[in-house]
Amino acid sequence: MTMNQVQLLSQIATNDGHGENSAFFDGWKAYDSDPYHPTRNPSGVIQMGLAENQLSFDLVQEWVRNNPKASICTAEGSNGFKDIAIYQDYHGLPEFRNAVARFMEKVRGNRVRFDPDRIVMSGGATGAQETLAFCLADAGDAFLVPTPYYPGNDRDLTWRTGIQLLPVVCESSNDFKITRRALETAYKNAQESNIKVKGLLLNNPSNPLGTVIDRETLTDSLLFTNEKNIHLICDEIYSATVFSQPGFTSIAEIVQENTDCNRNLIHIVYSLSKDLGFPGFRVGIVYSYNDIVVNCARKMSSFGLVSTQTQHLIATMLSDDVFVDRFIAESSKRLEIRHGILSAGLAQVGIGSLKSNAGLYCWMDLRRLLKEPTFEAELELWQVIINDVKLNVSPGASFHCSEPGWFRVCFANMDGETMMVALNRIHKFVTQKKGSDQESGRKQCRSSKLEISLSFRRLDEMKMAAPHKMSPHSPMSSPLVRART
Ligand SMILES: Cc1ncc(COP(=O)(O)O)c(C=O)c1O
Repeated sequence: MTMNQVQLLSQIATNDGHGENSAFFDGWKAYDSDPYHPTRNPSGVIQMGLAENQLSFDLVQEWVRNNPKASICTAEGSNGFKDIAIYQDYHGLPEFRNAVARFMEKVRGNRVRFDPDRIVMSGGATGAQETLAFCLADAGDAFLVPTPYYPGNDRDLTWRTGIQLLPVVCESSNDFKITRRALETAYKNAQESNIKVKGLLLNNPSNPLGTVIDRETLTDSLLFTNEKNIHLICDEIYSATVFSQPGFTSIAEIVQENTDCNRNLIHIVYSLSKDLGFPGFRVGIVYSYNDIVVNCARKMSSFGLVSTQTQHLIATMLSDDVFVDRFIAESSKRLEIRHGILSAGLAQVGIGSLKSNAGLYCWMDLRRLLKEPTFEAELELWQVIINDVKLNVSPGASFHCSEPGWFRVCFANMDGETMMVALNRIHKFVTQKKGSDQESGRKQCRSSKLEISLSFRRLDEMKMAAPHKMSPHSPMSSPLVRART
């Protein structure tokens, strides 16, 4: 950008707040310039950097076929076209808010109630985060965020609002759990730097960890934020991706149990991007217990409304209890199977991953493959994985992880065959690396190769046993749109 342009344009237009200039995007560029295709480009880059839930689209497509009236562009639905196409109240269609509130309750085992009048729409969770940031803080103020965290937070909460994020450092020694000590340290550091902390942002289940936050930690976070009189924002957009025990606990349950807590400080961010796998629909939700925030967020929602056509379709779909129950159960079953295939495949070549039970990814531990325990070495290894192994995985540094050597690997945005190709590439890479690293271990390497290929055959068998669990492959596109999911 020339100096002249910098002077002509706003600070937002000319700063790097969106974050697209980071090294993280090299992986996307590599994928975009050489995307894998089973027949047309079998040696291309496989996209494992995209947290997208594509495993259950067959169920949705079947529902869409059986409910043509829900789509206003069909013969059956066209009578409703005009009413949907004209201006609507920015509160959102009542049937949409009701259906979303009921869906959120269902995902939480009907243990809590959500008031449809507190449901505020936004353009995805991305818009919801920014709306909340605008409602809760001023430029220069800060939110605390436990690490590692979703890189998009840096863009969504800070770019246009001017607020800042401060890390609450979590470590692998206790499986990256959030401790009271880490919260207090982050808060104290901010105070010492004269930064006003306005809130704590939690992501439950976590991207990138794939773990749920337990009841005690949630309660402790609520008490901590209440004590400091700061806000608690819980991003719960992966709530229906939990596929095994321990189950998901929503902050809404903790609020319900702690009757004397200050509810005005509690806010939930939700979207249908992960649980239903509809990021293209941009259905995001702010759910606040604070009346002023609900009111202000609703006014702000004019800048990022969900189209009425989408509201109409989603309202009809989510009001179908039989479909919703089946989808939630089947989707988590398929995620569990896919997660099992990936984590078992990694384990067979000696790669560990954090024990997880949610999300659309594994948090892979490659610390022992680093030349040295530094982020430079992590970047170097990542470049090898992209350029030679041809897998676009995401390095821990982009999630602000405090320890080098962790990588996020997504598993739900591809079909089962592509997953097997990816695992075979990892297998080959690790065994070759072992061979070149350990001069003396060549013999041993050959026998382990045999063992591994036998194990991979077992994985194939698992896949054959459940062929219907595999999703159709669908192509990816723009790194700019998808880069930070
Ligand atoms: C934790 C988290 N929050 C928010 C978002 C943004 O979601 P949306 O696509 O609904 O804007 C993502 C997307 O990956 C995410 O992982």
